Amino acid sequence: MMLLFFIGIIPAILIEMVLVRSQVNRSIEQRTVVVQNQCDIICDQLYREDYLNDPDNEVVNGELGILTNIYGGRAIVVNSDYKIVHDTFHQDTGKYMVSQIVIDAFSGKETHKYVKENQYIELAMGISDPTGASDEISGILLVSVSTTEIQLTKAFLERRGMIILIVVILLILLIGSLLSGVLVKPLLRITDSIDEITEGYLEEDISVPDYLETELITDAFNRMMKRIRTMDESREEFVSNVSHELKTPLASMKVLADALNSQPDIPVEQYREFMQDISQEIDRENSIITDLLSLVKLDRRSEDLNIETTNINELLEMLIKRLKPIADLKNVRLILDSFRPVNAEIDQTKIALALSNIIENAIKYNKPEGGWIRISLNADQKYCYVTIADSGIGIPEEAQDHIFERFYRVDKSHSREIGGTGLGLAITRNAIVMHRGAIRVYSKPGEGTTFSVRLPLVYIS
Ligand SMILES: Nc1ncnc2c1ncn2[C@@H]1O[C@H](COP(=O)(O)OP(=O)(O)O)[C@@H](O)[C@H]1O
Ligand SMILES: [Mg+2]
Repeated sequence: MMLLFFIGIIPAILIEMVLVRSQVNRSIEQRTVVVQNQCDIICDQLYREDYLNDPDNEVVNGELGILTNIYGGRAIVVNSDYKIVHDTFHQDTGKYMVSQIVIDAFSGKETHKYVKENQYIELAMGISDPTGASDEISGILLVSVSTTEIQLTKAFLERRGMIILIVVILLILLIGSLLSGVLVKPLLRITDSIDEITEGYLEEDISVPDYLETELITDAFNRMMKRIRTMDESREEFVSNVSHELKTPLASMKVLADALNSQPDIPVEQYREFMQDISQEIDRENSIITDLLSLVKLDRRSEDLNIETTNINELLEMLIKRLKPIADLKNVRLILDSFRPVNAEIDQTKIALALSNIIENAIKYNKPEGGWIRISLNADQKYCYVTIADSGIGIPEEAQDHIFERFYRVDKSHSREIGGTGLGLAITRNAIVMHRGAIRVYSKPGEGTTFSVRLPLVYIS
């Protein structure tokens, strides 16, 4: 606003000053030239009429009178003795005049000057032979011409300019305030809307649709809010899931313990059975907490990754060796197909956890008898690919999108007896995403499931 003011007003003032001044200067110059021409003519006449020797020449005196009348000035004729032979004011006739301007004129310099204080133009011209036959200057015509009316015009122009200037200032102020209002108003409305949201109406979108510019901002803001809302919802859901999951084993233990307490003399077998159940629930609680902890650790920044170049073939062999006892229990065959030696820059512990979660699932959700799991490893220049295919129960189409969510289990009751927290694949996906990798699932219920994992060979931070 202030800026606008200066940008508008300073040029206006400058223009007015320059214009008025140059106008005045031009008027004075013009006036000087006109008077000069007149004097030229009169000088010629003075010479021709031999006025210096005949200063009473009526015709010439009349013309001098006219000249001075028109321009409100005074004409003085000086002869070679510096004696004033004629003065249109009739004051100084007969006196001597030895001023600088007269001396200059005698020496051949044609002089004129503008005397600012008295506002008149002074002009001295030598009287000599107009035919140029002789250089001799026989006298001087001295004319002073008033410029009062030029000064009046100047004052008039200045007053005019002042009025225009004031109008311009007012206009600039008006336009400025209107413009800034127009520019700032939508932003203020956005600010208001954002403030409202900050105060807690988190559900609402902001909307300031009247202006194109603000629509873009509000759209971006709304998109951001949507993400925050989603994050907020998933966090709430996570917290409530966690507390639910942690409370379930506790509730079971409570029921079992109460049952034991309420009966004074229970048979030893039943007592033992209940205690076993309690012990199982404790294990379950324990595994949920362990999984939660690994998930929380994975939620941290990727700086926490401990990246090492790792031979993936050896890593898979190690995992298979570790999981074989569990697979044997369920009579599931584990097959490893390594197509080539693969080295990749990974955090060993995290990728081992991720892959073993998938393989554990493949064992857990396999056929009751005679199932198999085929693990294959391949690579190209950029990525390594691990696929884990099983002959298990499969995952229904509509559940395939959800299995990576925390606590999601396809069949709660079924999974319950198999055991599991629903956190395994969430942990797996987090670990893989931290490595800038990807995981996909292909499955047909009743036939089996294939998980395919892609990891970059070189770690991209
Ligand atoms: N190989 C698989 N075959 C069939 N279902 C599977 C397989 N892997 C995972 N699932 C389904 O996905 C759910 C989520 O898996 P996960 O996150 O590991 O949790 P859980 O602790 O139940 O194993 C499982 O409960 C199961 O229903
Ligand atoms: Mg699992």
